[in-house]
Amino acid sequence: MVRIGQRGPEIFPLVLGGNVFGWTAGRPASFAILDAFRAAVPAGQPIMIDTAEGYSSWVPGNDGYESERIIGEWIAARGPKHVLVATKTGGHRDHRNLDPDRVRAAIDGSLERLGVESIDLYWAHYDDEHVSLAEQVAVFGELVASGKAKRIGLSNYTPERLRAWIEEASRQEQELPIAFQPHYNLVHRNDVEDHVVPIAEEHGIGLLPYYALASGFLAGKYRERVEAGASPRAAGASKYATPQGLAIVDELERIGNAHGASVAATALAWLRAQPTVAAPIASASRAEQVADLVASATLSLTVEDLAVLDKVSTWTP
Ligand SMILES: NC(=O)c1ccc[n+]([C@@H]2O[C@H](COP(=O)([O-])OP(=O)(O)OC[C@H]3O[C@@H](n4cnc5c(N)ncnc54)[C@H](OP(=O)(O)O)[C@@H]3O)[C@@H](O)[C@H]2O)c1
Repeated sequence: MVRIGQRGPEIFPLVLGGNVFGWTAGRPASFAILDAFRAAVPAGQPIMIDTAEGYSSWVPGNDGYESERIIGEWIAARGPKHVLVATKTGGHRDHRNLDPDRVRAAIDGSLERLGVESIDLYWAHYDDEHVSLAEQVAVFGELVASGKAKRIGLSNYTPERLRAWIEEASRQEQELPIAFQPHYNLVHRNDVEDHVVPIAEEHGIGLLPYYALASGFLAGKYRERVEAGASPRAAGASKYATPQGLAIVDELERIGNAHGASVAATALAWLRAQPTVAAPIASASRAEQVADLVASATLSLTVEDLAVLDKVSTWTP
């Protein structure tokens, strides 16, 4: 179990990503993935599922609310215990903004689709430069005051805007974010480590990094670049199959073998061990993949393992 930052709830240290639900995982597969995740984590330990009102609005034919709907149907069908839901506003293809009235309507829609009384962690999905930080802070504070959201977090904000958001929330004596959600993994490190982690350290904020498996590349299954493949994500994931990317996978495989762990579990264990990271967010497109995600949470890499992975993934511009 891990606490998200200094003020957040305690959760199992791997957050299940929900952007696959209604995209690479249809409803039955999504239910199987959610069942497998809840079953694999000891019953008393709270698990967190990360979704967004915009998942998966990029898929032709989708209206974009599929993931929340599927998670809501699963919660209604299974009545699972100790499940925390994190969702986001501002990233749906038809509503890519943080206009305060839209945010108020968005959380009502999410509560209804998920079938819950309160969102455990409500994220601003992207910054919106057309809405002042004073307004953003005020409306997110209002959602917590009303009980519709328990905690708030910020995703994809620049370091400058993260600092400014915190300053504005302190000035207004409003709710502070408990978490940041940046794009962070072994093939995408510099900006987060140089600029976001120091802010998180200073303010007791926890990181829940997304693309923790680099869309599947850090599961070790792409050894060369492919334009299309078994998964719709093959082209995006395999773009990391450069000599440096493959050297990282080779080290993950070697270190994982020494621990009896998969490449994917080893990559997630490295991320979990980084300063201020509370838990990586990773998804599965099939129930069989869930075991590797869960295994990462109890895999302790040695100081030497971490040093080797730090070195092989260092990138100097
Ligand atoms: N805040 C944001 O802007 C933002 C952006 C992106 C994502 N996110 C969040 O972060 C979560 C994670 O990102 P992501 O799902 O895009 O990518 P990811 O976690 O980096 O990659 C997950 C994908 O890797 C493959 N995989 C997982 N386990 C595997 C295993 N054991 N063996 C082989 N392949 C495996 C699966 O894809 P295939 O089986 O299809 O290959 C799976 O869907 C999302 O679900 C979402 O909640 C947030």
